[in-house]
Amino acid sequence: MTMTQSSAAPAQNGKAYPITDHTFDVVVVGAGGAGLRATVGCSQAGLRTACISKVFPTRSHTVAAQGGVAASLANMGPDNWKWHMYDTVKGSDWLGDQDSIEYLCRNAPAAVYELEHWGVPFSRTEDGKIYQRPFGGMTTDFGHGPPAQRTCAAADRTGHAMLHTLYGQALKHSTEFFIEYFAIDLIMDAEGRCCGVVCLKLDDGTIHRFRANLTILATGGYGRAFFSATSAHTCTGDGNAMVLRAGLPLQDMEFVQFHPTGIYGAGCLITEGARGEGGYLTNSEGERFMERYAPSVKDLAPRDMVSRAMTMEIREGRGVGKSKDHIFLHLDHLDPKILHQRLPGISESAKIFAGVDVTKEPIPVLPTVHYNMGGIQTNFYGEVVKKHDGNPDVVVPGLMAIGEAACVSVHGANRLGSNSLIDLVVFGRAAGHRAAEIVSPGEKQVDLPADSADLALSRLDHFRNAKGGTPTAELRLRMQKVMQNNCAVYRTGETLEEGKKLIHDVWRAKSDVKVTDRSLIWNSDLVETLEFDNLIIQAVVTMEGAANRTESRGAHAREDFSKRDDQNWMKHTLASIDNDAQTVSIDYRPVHSYTMTNEVSYIEPKERVY
Ligand code: FUM
Repeated sequence: MTMTQSSAAPAQNGKAYPITDHTFDVVVVGAGGAGLRATVGCSQAGLRTACISKVFPTRSHTVAAQGGVAASLANMGPDNWKWHMYDTVKGSDWLGDQDSIEYLCRNAPAAVYELEHWGVPFSRTEDGKIYQRPFGGMTTDFGHGPPAQRTCAAADRTGHAMLHTLYGQALKHSTEFFIEYFAIDLIMDAEGRCCGVVCLKLDDGTIHRFRANLTILATGGYGRAFFSATSAHTCTGDGNAMVLRAGLPLQDMEFVQFHPTGIYGAGCLITEGARGEGGYLTNSEGERFMERYAPSVKDLAPRDMVSRAMTMEIREGRGVGKSKDHIFLHLDHLDPKILHQRLPGISESAKIFAGVDVTKEPIPVLPTVHYNMGGIQTNFYGEVVKKHDGNPDVVVPGLMAIGEAACVSVHGANRLGSNSLIDLVVFGRAAGHRAAEIVSPGEKQVDLPADSADLALSRLDHFRNAKGGTPTAELRLRMQKVMQNNCAVYRTGETLEEGKKLIHDVWRAKSDVKVTDRSLIWNSDLVETLEFDNLIIQAVVTMEGAANRTESRGAHAREDFSKRDDQNWMKHTLASIDNDAQTVSIDYRPVHSYTMTNEVSYIEPKERVY
């Protein structure tokens, strides 16, 4: 299906990089849940579709998702999508765009049934329906009723089950995969249209230019900008960074989610499903402290609240362990049969990474970076938008973003657990539908700009020949420590101002980076440097956005501005960079205070208590 030809690229640093050209209707970058779902949709629509991934598709980070995917199927009790929508708006602390949230919750059941029909091996109820468990912040009757059982689960390996099924579907629809290709930069023309992407093939070092009428970024989050994260080491936000370098802003980057239950020390995820199945947290006094912080939902409060409560307990001297610096998660009161059936994966992780038998002892846990609410601004079709001539929602032609890379924005200031997997499939599906509307199979391609590969190749060549004095690993560690210490669960003006200075120091120090391997075959030194270069600009805009936002909302908890300030801050942050001058500029975009249809009305802001 690929049309391939070769051409010479302009010499970089005295060396020529031959280019292999490919032409497709659609190119999807990333093969996690969102990328694969979009890939299937585009291929089903008859579009010649390439899916590019830096790892084998079933190793994408979606594979690590545990607890489940939210959809109001009402298999375990009353539920409907309007309650799901209410919970998601409230969970977002009213920063989510309500038209997009309506789209998400309304389409969630159809997206899950589609997965079921494609073969996802969901856990089952006695009567054969998809099993659903409670998750934090998911309630019934617009917050007035008991917790909803809304999270559809395949034991505690839901992402694994979804990813493998989606990969099978993509193969069935004859998608062409380009596996272990690293996307370096987008090709943007003078009119601001995206014309494709330039990649490095990791095993032989060849350069590949993918030309397409539509490029869909599904490159995931950038959790690895932090020292302790549940994210895979591959989560370096490559698409976000490409967008920043293309001169487009990223939205709401200051909102970084800490998952309450990362294993102490190792950081690996213990699913919120553990609390959904009846697990609870205790402090050094054996107290179930969540009863004080969220009297109605307790351990099933949203993640931002649980992470803050745990941090507070530790700060006030009620942490557990020798250094009183973590918290216990108890599952030891649960029936071992239930643990074996519904939580086998985390039982094994607890044994391996904490040496704990969950049937007998509590698991030592600590809030750990887990998810980025911010990302590339899009509408609910998945199209990337930008501000132009006073209109905040002008579509960038040829470019879409979905999944954790995107900020659509359904999660606003805080994502509810299990709303990530549903975001992947609902908006992956939406992108496929939209692609089928705006691209025709075999349609003529716009001309590539003459300098189409220059940005990518000059970056590649620059780092490949970097002869500074500081190894990439040292710079990366400095960045991760600054982000962990200065952009944490609780933030103050002082820590953020210091963080800004320190993270800009790391950005400047990049000019002294040392790459020792000059080859192009499996050059992990070079790839890690390109990834660090991607991470550092996201770290900088995250810190700058956090210092700039003088209120507390969702996951952004300022001790010096402890209240939400709707008057001044009910707006999205847009952060852009000048990569040469190494500066950041901040702008804003209004929150969509309207719904998609008249079937629901705008949910008015109120105090967020549980
Ligand atoms: O806790 C978990 O299983 C994670 C789910 C999520 O982030 O949505």
